[in-house]
Amino acid sequence: MQFSLCLLPGDGIGPEIVEQAVLVLHAVGKKYGHTFTTTSALIGGAAIDAEGVPLPDATVAACKEADAVLLGAVGGPKWDTIDPAIRPEKGLLGIRKALGLFANLRPAKLFPQLKNACRLHPDVVRDGLDVLVVRELTGGAYFGEPRGQEVRNGERFGFNTMVYSESEIRRIAKIGFETAQKRNKRLCSVDKANVLDVSQLWREIVIDESKNYPDVELSHLYVDNAAMQLVQNPGQFDVIVTENLFGDILSDEAAVITGSIGMLPSSSMGDGTLALYEPIHGSAPDIADQDKANPLATILSIAMMLRFSFALEEEAAAVENAVSAVLDAGYRTGDIMESGKTLIGCREMGQKVVEQI
Ligand code: IPM
Ligand code: MG
Repeated sequence: MQFSLCLLPGDGIGPEIVEQAVLVLHAVGKKYGHTFTTTSALIGGAAIDAEGVPLPDATVAACKEADAVLLGAVGGPKWDTIDPAIRPEKGLLGIRKALGLFANLRPAKLFPQLKNACRLHPDVVRDGLDVLVVRELTGGAYFGEPRGQEVRNGERFGFNTMVYSESEIRRIAKIGFETAQKRNKRLCSVDKANVLDVSQLWREIVIDESKNYPDVELSHLYVDNAAMQLVQNPGQFDVIVTENLFGDILSDEAAVITGSIGMLPSSSMGDGTLALYEPIHGSAPDIADQDKANPLATILSIAMMLRFSFALEEEAAAVENAVSAVLDAGYRTGDIMESGKTLIGCREMGQKVVEQI
C-alpha cells in the first residue's frame, strides 16, 4: 500500500529525530511492501526564520494533503524574545487548531529495560506504570476568548478564558471512554469542579456520556489531587481524560516519572482521518546538532501512526519490538544512559532500530 506523510521537523533536535524516524519507516516499508512518500514543511522557529511566521499557509495545505503528519519539536532560546504573537509555539497551537486535532493521546509507560530511570520509589511502581492521558487540545484557556492584556484604572491586567461548550466536552469524553475500552476499562476524569464553573459542566457531561459506556469504570479527581496521586500511586490509573491546560501539566508529570521522557510518543486526532504524531519531549536546543538526541520517542510515534492512521498493526508492533530489542541489547542515548550500557548517538540509535526491523 502507499501512504503519504507530511514532515514538520521544526527546531532544535526536531530535524535529527525526524530523520531517524523516517529511516525506520522506510525500513518497515521495505520489509512489508509499503511505499511511504514524504514531503517536508516549515513550522515554528524554522518557519519564522524563513517566512516570518510560525505557521505558513503552505504548511497547513501540505498537512491537509497528506495521510498523516509527523512533527519533531518547536521552539528555542533564539526566538524567546520575539513578538509573542509569532512565537514558535503558536505554530504548534495553530496546526492543531487548523487540522481540528482536538484529542491528544499521551501514553506514559515505564519500559521494563529502563526501570532504573524511574523517578519513583520501587515500592510505588511495583505494578509498573502505564497511564494514558487523553488531553483536550483545541479548547480551554489555550484558545478561549476574551484573552489579552489591557490597562484598567492605570493598572495592567492579563487574562484568558477557560471555556468549553457541551459538544467539545462530549467529543473528548467519548475518546476517553473509547480509549479506556481498548485498555483496562478504567477512566478517570480530571477537573476542578470544586472551584471552576467550566469544570462543573465538564463533570456533568462526562457523567452523562458514561451511560453509553457501561463497561468502563468512571472516576473523578480534582486536578490538584490527581497531580499528587500520580506520584503517590500511579498504578491506580488506566486512562485519564482532562481539559487542555490540566492535560498539558499532567502529561508532563506522567511522562517524567517514567524517567524516560525521551521515549514517549503521542498522537493528536480529530473527527477526520488526518492525525499528527510527535514525541512528547521538546526541542532540547542544548543538545541540538550534536548527534546526542534520543530518536526513540519519534520512532515510537511512527508505530502509533502505523497503528492508528494506517491500520498496520503488525508493522506497528514490529517497530515497538525493534525498539525493545535495541534496549535489550544495551544501547542507550545519553538521556537514558546507566552504567554497564553502551552509549550511542542519535544516528546510531536510528540505525540499530532499522537493523532490528
Ligand atoms: C505540549 C507543549 C505545548 C503545549 C507548547 C509547546 C505550546 O507544552 O505539547 O505539551 O503547551 O501544548
Ligand atoms: Mg506541554
